Amino acid sequence: MIIHIFDSQQELNQTGAGIITALIQTKPNAVLGLATGGTPVGIYEELVKNYNLGRVSFSHVKSFNLDEYVGLPEDHPESYRSYMNHHLFDHVDIQKDQTHVPNGNAADVDAECEEYDARMADVGQVDLQILGIGHNGHIGFNEPDRELTAGTHQVELKAETRQANARYFPSMDDVPTHAITMGVGSIMKAKSIILIVRGADKAEIVKRALYGPITTDCPASLLQTHPNLIVLVDKEAGRALVE
Ligand code: F6R
Repeated sequence: MIIHIFDSQQELNQTGAGIITALIQTKPNAVLGLATGGTPVGIYEELVKNYNLGRVSFSHVKSFNLDEYVGLPEDHPESYRSYMNHHLFDHVDIQKDQTHVPNGNAADVDAECEEYDARMADVGQVDLQILGIGHNGHIGFNEPDRELTAGTHQVELKAETRQANARYFPSMDDVPTHAITMGVGSIMKAKSIILIVRGADKAEIVKRALYGPITTDCPASLLQTHPNLIVLVDKEAGRALVE
């Protein structure tokens, strides 16, 4: 595990985007595992800049997103498909049919989960997985529980997760109750993982994830066992890591 603590958001964003850019430069058909939420937005902005500067082309890149809300149509402004289009896909030369986000509006959600795993198995292995972390230690939407699931599956979102995401919806009642998420097995299969953490409110959970016991109570603690984990944190989130 390598941990970088950054003084500025700009440095963090440029470093994250730089790692992704360098991967695609050396492996133009790289498979990216992508995250949504507030955390990666600045990194996607820097990636778009790199693309506009001619440093990187996404024309042969494939991507798999971690998760999607159940019950939101793809074109709902808060669906993760809309998020990815808005923050990255619409601004670079990635082929949309090579981008994969679970279909949260599928008539048969279990069949959609199986199909998503099959699509991932077809491409082999994710080269680089981008992750954020929830305040309760979730990765993707793998919430703390007595047991975790390896493959893509449907989850009921914890109250704290719905609360954290309520900022994007008109009211709590509009926040979806369920999501489809890659399982921890799929996440851990990636060749390399970048965990990005920002803000003082994540300082304790990132410390627990990286240095606490490895437990299903904190799904991100499994990352301690990954052979190629890079952690990018701002100085607020990194505070407890250096004390
Ligand atoms: C998003 C995802 C989630 C978020 C986490 C942190 O695709 O899988 O695990 O990374 O909830 O969210 P933010 O970045 O909004 O604090």
